[in-house]
Amino acid sequence: MTVCEYKPGLENIAAAQSSISHVDGKQGILEYRGIGIEELASKSNFLEAAYLLIWGELPRQEELEAFEHDIRFHRRIKYRIRDMMKCFPETGHPMDALQTSAAALGLFYSRRALDNPQYIREAVVRLLAKIPTMVAAFKLMRKGHDPIQPRDDLGYSANFLYMLNEREPDPLAAQIFDVCLTLHAEHTINASTFSAMVTASTLTDPYAVIASAVGTLAGPLHGGANEEVIAMLKEIGSVENVRPYLEDRLQRKEKIMGFGHRVYKVKDPRAKILQNLAEQLFEQSGGNKYYEIAVELEQAVEEKLGHRGIYANVDFYSGLVYLKLGIPSDLFTPVFAIARVAGWLAHWKEQLAVNRIFRPTQEYTGTHNVSYIPIEER
Ligand code: CMC
Repeated sequence: MTVCEYKPGLENIAAAQSSISHVDGKQGILEYRGIGIEELASKSNFLEAAYLLIWGELPRQEELEAFEHDIRFHRRIKYRIRDMMKCFPETGHPMDALQTSAAALGLFYSRRALDNPQYIREAVVRLLAKIPTMVAAFKLMRKGHDPIQPRDDLGYSANFLYMLNEREPDPLAAQIFDVCLTLHAEHTINASTFSAMVTASTLTDPYAVIASAVGTLAGPLHGGANEEVIAMLKEIGSVENVRPYLEDRLQRKEKIMGFGHRVYKVKDPRAKILQNLAEQLFEQSGGNKYYEIAVELEQAVEEKLGHRGIYANVDFYSGLVYLKLGIPSDLFTPVFAIARVAGWLAHWKEQLAVNRIFRPTQEYTGTHNVSYIPIEER
């Protein structure tokens, strides 16, 4: 067997064949099942995009209604999961709380029937329905409050914001949040998706698949740059300080958060849509200092680094939108997870259809034939 050259981080190694999403980094294109992200963001909604990703085609009216109905019906979490979450330390990170609670679902829904389409559908519905409830519950529980029960009369995104902020969001906020979820639902084989695929390939249960992906997303090299963007905008403090701040940071060879991407060498198509959403939100409330700083910073970075293919990425405007929607910054990554569950589930299903357990090889760099030294002689 030919052993391929070792590539750190598997860069440019095709680890699977997939028809779920496509990214063209030179032209700034992102497609879900061949449909452009701009079209989905303006014409579709998160649950329809999730259906498209997971089942491969847009649902007919009655299919979408049945899917939405089932998800509404499964939003509540068992009181024993709530009781378990109450024991989590209030200082714990919400991503750790989410990973633990997602894994705990496997204890309650332990039947594993991966060749049964009904089982697959139920797992998809449960995970899409319950993950937002768990994220919102931990946010309230860590303040000592009881979690709010989901409201059946509210749509997916409005209900999440309601459970999180303890009040019904206005329709524009709910619609904007829904677009954010659509934008973050899938992005080819990144670290967390690959993690989901590797776990899926062992034929374990879907709750373990999602828990493993959540754990991978939690690392600072993956989710989380939008949190740092907000800290940076606060540090800059004023529009006048943008250019001196940028010069100083570049001189110290520090990266500007929210810019640059391994794949996109033009402005990330998701950043363009998020910028429009941020503009809408801030226009409605008479402007915002941090949004103005962000616009000026984007302009200045483009002038300085645009020729090197460094432009705004998805994280640059998303944090501003989330803050305005009342989402605290340590929940930005859990919110990312709520959306990405759709993509992870799509890859889980795709993996099951062609499964072969992942078992790469390695280049051994250690020694051979070493004698054992008794402990008293070391
Ligand atoms: N600010 C300033 N310089 C940058 C930046 C930046 N944001 N990004 C890349 N560069 C420079 C970097 O210093 C390096 O310069 P040199 O060749 O002189 O050493 C060159 O560009 C290549 O950088 P790299 O880190 O090797 O590029 P990469 O393709 O491996 O990294 C990245 C992509 C996202 C890790 C990087 O651009 C970065 O760290 N950006 C800031 C953090 C950030 O915004 N992360 C969110 C990414 S989007 C998440 C998603 O799509 O899921």
